[in-house]
Amino acid sequence: MTAGLYIHIPFCVKKCSYCDFYSKGGNTSVSDRYVDAVIREIKKYKDIQWKTVYFGGGTPSLLTPQQVQRITESADIMENAEITLEANPETVDFEKLKGYREAGVNRLSFGVQTANQQSLVTLGRIHSLQRVTEAFEDAKKAGFVNISGDVMIGLPSYTNKELDDTVELLASLGATHISSYMLKIEEGTPFAVNTPQNLPDEDTMCDFYLHACEKIESMGYRQYEISNFAKAGYESQHNNIYWKLENYVGIGPSAHSCLGGRRFYYPRDLHAFMTDPHTVQDGEVDIDEFIMLSLRLKKGLDLTVLKEKWGKELTALQYKKLQMLCRQGYITLENNTVSLTPKGFLMENAIACEIMI
Ligand SMILES: C[S@@+](CC[C@H](N)C(=O)[O-])C[C@H]1O[C@@H](n2cnc3c(N)ncnc32)[C@H](O)[C@@H]1O
Ligand code: SF4
Repeated sequence: MTAGLYIHIPFCVKKCSYCDFYSKGGNTSVSDRYVDAVIREIKKYKDIQWKTVYFGGGTPSLLTPQQVQRITESADIMENAEITLEANPETVDFEKLKGYREAGVNRLSFGVQTANQQSLVTLGRIHSLQRVTEAFEDAKKAGFVNISGDVMIGLPSYTNKELDDTVELLASLGATHISSYMLKIEEGTPFAVNTPQNLPDEDTMCDFYLHACEKIESMGYRQYEISNFAKAGYESQHNNIYWKLENYVGIGPSAHSCLGGRRFYYPRDLHAFMTDPHTVQDGEVDIDEFIMLSLRLKKGLDLTVLKEKWGKELTALQYKKLQMLCRQGYITLENNTVSLTPKGFLMENAIACEIMI
């Protein structure tokens, strides 16, 4: 069997003010004990060959190249597998990046967020704008070609110009992939407790999203998912596994898995993962999930597959509604496939509901 492998690194130098990902601040390194625990869990899946590997976090760039190598050596990874590592620009230098490359990592994803220095401070990021440029230059010098940048939109006092500057910076630095996320105020984060002034309202946020789609595409990146854009041939193979409901295993506290249609996850508990790692069952994939995930992709939802694989055929009324959404510019309907336009992506839930009922 083949699958994607996700490895969660739940440590950060400092928690950013908006972030709800499971990670602990106050760390400048990752203990070998944690790496040992990860390797022990990976070894439980001895029948699986990994077709992609993704080090996510948290801040995986707190791992040393030697630790990354220990992990990659412990896993049966297919030749030419995409191996991604998420990196905070502040935590890398040329030597470290070169070490990652030598350990097999062939794709980097930098948390850039914005090209506005003041916004970086507001977000509680530890890196400066200058570090972004240095990190990309060091990565290219170390031999990386496939480099993604995370961008956040709709930040306090946000403007289209802030987005333009950020995308132009990433393009000039040679990014092959851009992920662009609308700021979400997550419960329990410093931003939820002390919500910043001048956040965009919902309509303005939608305008920022539409502008971002247009700007990023105008710089030569093709949108292939609600939040993801890539130069031709540089789509994330690992994330595609999630959206296509293929097999993947997530290792580490809070990491989710989906194997043979069965979902399970490790609880958000570092101590439990280190001492007595166990997963919790989380049901089976269902048709609603298939519809939701397919609609996230630009490629869209193939209604023939929906019928053949899931036994669901749309009613005449549902087709009529889809044709109306098509005329209104929310979707395209070609080859019996529903694909959302950028305007449609903003209404993904409502459109999915029309198909689910
Ligand atoms: C787990 S982080 C990984 C990157 C790395 N830890 C870093 O921050 O440099 C993945 C990305 O999710 C996005 N993100 C996290 N929290 C968010 C939020 N509340 N709203 C919007 N985007 C968010 C950020 O763009 C972040 O880079
Ligand atoms: S955004 Fe990244 S660096 Fe910031 S707290 Fe979350 S995981 Fe850590």
